[in-house]
Amino acid sequence: MADKHHIDEVTGTETTGHEWDGIRELNTPLPRWWLWILYASIIWSFGYYIAYPAIPLVSSYTKGMLGYSSRAEVAKDMKAAKAAQQVHLDKLEKASLEEIRTDPELLEFALAGGRAAFNINCSQCHGSGAQGFKGYPNLNDDEWLWGGSVEAIHFTISKGIRNDQSDEARASAMPAFLKDETLDKAGVNDVAEYVLALSGGGSDAEAANRGKALYAENCVDCHGETGAGNTELGAPALNNPIWLYGGDKATIVETISFSRGGVMPAWGNILDVATIKELAIYIHSLGGGQ
Ligand code: HEC
Ligand code: HEC
Repeated sequence: MADKHHIDEVTGTETTGHEWDGIRELNTPLPRWWLWILYASIIWSFGYYIAYPAIPLVSSYTKGMLGYSSRAEVAKDMKAAKAAQQVHLDKLEKASLEEIRTDPELLEFALAGGRAAFNINCSQCHGSGAQGFKGYPNLNDDEWLWGGSVEAIHFTISKGIRNDQSDEARASAMPAFLKDETLDKAGVNDVAEYVLALSGGGSDAEAANRGKALYAENCVDCHGETGAGNTELGAPALNNPIWLYGGDKATIVETISFSRGGVMPAWGNILDVATIKELAIYIHSLGGGQ
């Protein structure tokens, strides 16, 4: 043991008396103020343990004397938010689509609600940006199978398409021309060439010319003389570069041969009245027309 009151020559600091191989330990205690803060924090933490939920037990936890619970706080906030929404939801339920669209506050609320409902219910088929996939229409463009007015969109969403959930579902089926033996392979080929020509493509003018007669006979009723389509029948326009299933020849031949018959659920059976209105208004805002 070395001298207890030894003073280190270099720093002028007292040493603790510990010495190893001639190396001495300086005695530099924590500052007083620091220690007091430490003690105060410990005392404060005991107060905290008593006042607030703190110590985990086997299947629960100490609840604290103030009865605070972050879960209860969230529930309270959510209830308040819901009550604030309810005012708008009640209005939405009663208002016509036209009234909602002309009331800026209600419109903003409907668009936000529609966007949220779309992400949850529709994006898996139509894409998160409503851009669509093969067989699932893009909802951003101004091309509509079943009509792009807000009323038509509302109807399509509530009743769905070719489903057995609603008696009023949009329904109309393109015949499967090859399967039903209305056309043979050569006929399908020719009419496909004519469809390509309608949309500004195609390379076999002779076949297209033969296809024109077949088109007039078999296709005009639904797709129209110029190929403009018919929203009453869900028949897409064939005279532009927007395709539901694809505009390459093989895909067109496939569609004509076997038809397609895309199905969409009747959302009116699944979602509430206000949500369907929100969705119709949101979808219309993406690419609606008249
Ligand atoms: C299970 C897949 C699926 C889901 C989910 C789905 N859709 Fe569809 N939707 C389709 C298909 C397929 C079509 C095209 C049917 C056809 O060929 O006519 C379609 C068509 C539409 C159309 C008509 C487009 C047009 O051009 O006229 C609208 C509007 C639409 N969907 C909105 C919605 C909304 C809103 C939701 C969510 C509430 C939704 N869809 C969810 C499959 C789906
Ligand atoms: C009863 C109405 C009806 C008739 C008749 C009809 N179609 Fe269609 N067509 C549709 C519908 C509805 C669709 C949408 C796809 C589906 O659901 O089968 C469609 C889709 C198509 C498509 C796919 C378009 C795309 O965007 O991918 C092509 C191509 C087409 N039809 C060509 C024809 C040709 C060619 C004929 C005549 C040989 C014909 N259709 C006759 C109703 C009809």
